[in-house]
Amino acid sequence: MENRFYVTTPIYYVNDEPHIGHAYTTILADVLAQLHRVFGDEVFFLTGTDEHGQKLQNAAVKNKREPLDYCDEMVMRFKKTWRKLHIKNDDFIRTTEERHIKVVSEILQRIYDRGEIYSAEYEGWYCVHEERFWTEKDLVEGNCPDCNRPVTKITEMNYFFKMSKYQNWLVDYIEKNPDFIQPAFRRNEVLGFLKKPLGDLCISRPKARLSWGIELPFDRQYVCYVWFDALINYISAIGYLSDDKKFESWWPAVHLIGKDILTTHAVYWPCMLKAMDLPQPKTIFAHGWWLVGETKMSKSLGNVVKPLQLADKYGVDAFRYFLMREMTLGQDSTYSEESFISRYNSDLANDLGNLLSRTLKMIQSYTDGKIPAPPGDNSDNELARRFEKLIPETREKVATLKLNRAVEDILELVRATNRYIEKNKPWALAKKGEKEKLGRILYNAAETLRLVSLLLSPIMPEKCKVIQDQLGLQDDTAGNLAWGGLKPGTSIKPGEGLFPRLQQPKAEAINMTEKEELPEGVIGFEEFGKVKMRTARVLEAEKVPKADKLLKLQIDLGSEKRQIVAGIAEYYTPEDMIGKNLVVVSNLKPAKIRGVDSNGMLLAATHGKKLVLVTTDHDIDPGAEIS
Ligand code: ME8
Ligand code: MG
Repeated sequence: MENRFYVTTPIYYVNDEPHIGHAYTTILADVLAQLHRVFGDEVFFLTGTDEHGQKLQNAAVKNKREPLDYCDEMVMRFKKTWRKLHIKNDDFIRTTEERHIKVVSEILQRIYDRGEIYSAEYEGWYCVHEERFWTEKDLVEGNCPDCNRPVTKITEMNYFFKMSKYQNWLVDYIEKNPDFIQPAFRRNEVLGFLKKPLGDLCISRPKARLSWGIELPFDRQYVCYVWFDALINYISAIGYLSDDKKFESWWPAVHLIGKDILTTHAVYWPCMLKAMDLPQPKTIFAHGWWLVGETKMSKSLGNVVKPLQLADKYGVDAFRYFLMREMTLGQDSTYSEESFISRYNSDLANDLGNLLSRTLKMIQSYTDGKIPAPPGDNSDNELARRFEKLIPETREKVATLKLNRAVEDILELVRATNRYIEKNKPWALAKKGEKEKLGRILYNAAETLRLVSLLLSPIMPEKCKVIQDQLGLQDDTAGNLAWGGLKPGTSIKPGEGLFPRLQQPKAEAINMTEKEELPEGVIGFEEFGKVKMRTARVLEAEKVPKADKLLKLQIDLGSEKRQIVAGIAEYYTPEDMIGKNLVVVSNLKPAKIRGVDSNGMLLAATHGKKLVLVTTDHDIDPGAEIS
């Protein structure tokens, strides 16, 4: 496997307030970087800020400030936010830094000298907000097709980068390199975009209109288009044209971006690199949106979730955990405080926090507060075997950016350890005086906790340090990722609970000042909202004796396991059912059916003599809410 990993985030517009979306990409990059470090890889992690362009100039003017002064102040908000969120980037690039400006200028001159840039009369519709030109037919009702703001018609001389000539090469490159643009459906989107003829890229802005930017070295009347300048940060920061050795040791990068900036990264940037004769990025990965309700979070909509507020309220580590666990990389995810709290309670309080506190309590009472010595050969036990399987699987999932699955697998080991304790009942062993077996069970639980703390530390650095401290670990033993690293005889140091349970805030009463009369048979949102439905995965299924129509199912509801009885045995065999993703009403009053407990109801469609189960269109984790 690769042992060098260069990962980048977009450089964010410095005039925006950092919100949960920026925090997401940055935490994602941080977690990937730290996970690679845990696995012993060499890592370089870059983030930064995008400080040129019209929007910034306008914001500075509005605030009666010199642009650079204004940037100097604004950049602190990003730096401060990243510090608070435990981001450990190796470098932070600002596009107003001399080291960046020099490289952009040099690149412009070089490709100009090679005939990659020409000047021409330009006519188009310009959107200040998006900082880009549109053609007449791009406009939607005369407005910008991206942000719907008014556009201005502009005719002027400009400089163009000959991007169109790379179109065929780019299509070919994308087709031959399936990992280049991810996920696959984004790659298809780019290929779709490239079916239309690709134009040349206007890379200049006349100073008369916009002075805040990097001057074109071959025509001082113009500054460079902000995207052409910004993309170069990925190479200027690691020494392109200034430190060849450093540059060659890190390039190419894995670029993490949101889907909003796919075209600039997957079309402009590859063509620019090609014109510079440089290798292409290893991967451009576009993740989805964090939504609030149904809509994208954005400053203009006033629905931004401020990352620091959440982190202050619930803790930085829990916040990082939530973001990493909740978003399937590539898909959109909805943020809500309710889903945050339920994820926190199920995974962190119930599973991980509980495992730590019960293990330490038992070591305290049964083995004198010292890690017991497992008797004999202890390498072959179910937890060790699980852990050894988990390592290559986690590496693979990290390499292929399936981070939420990797996190889920680690949590599954935590749950398996809780089950291991329940099955082996150390409290009963202590009563019977079975010291050897007791020692082995407690050692294995504590050792699993140590290893889990190493695997989760990239996501929750502070909490994992607490686990290690409470286990009594010194730093030198904490870093060993092989089973058996925990030294028997170590004195544990139990302390405060790791993740105290949180209360769900009471649902705010819907404000119904005007009572609406509903027609017969029509229900309101409130009534519908009372029915809680979730996805569930079938773990086990068997026939109910002496009841031809019934199957008894054990289902995984995400945060819990349940048994339900369903009248489907004439349509499905128990084997058919295992692994199916069902839709289940989860808040139905428990019932006994033919003497068997049933806790919930699955949904099925029936027509005449036919019955088919309702399942989900795509795979989704058990416990997902249906709404
Ligand atoms: O586009 N959900 O900067 P930007 C998820 N300066 N991620 C989100 C998000 C959301 N709701 N909102 C923002 C720029 N992001 C350019 C980049 S790179 C050479 C230049 C994240 O401040 C996501 O990573 O608008 C998105 O791509 C990025 O912030 C856009 O940040
Ligand atoms: Mg943006």
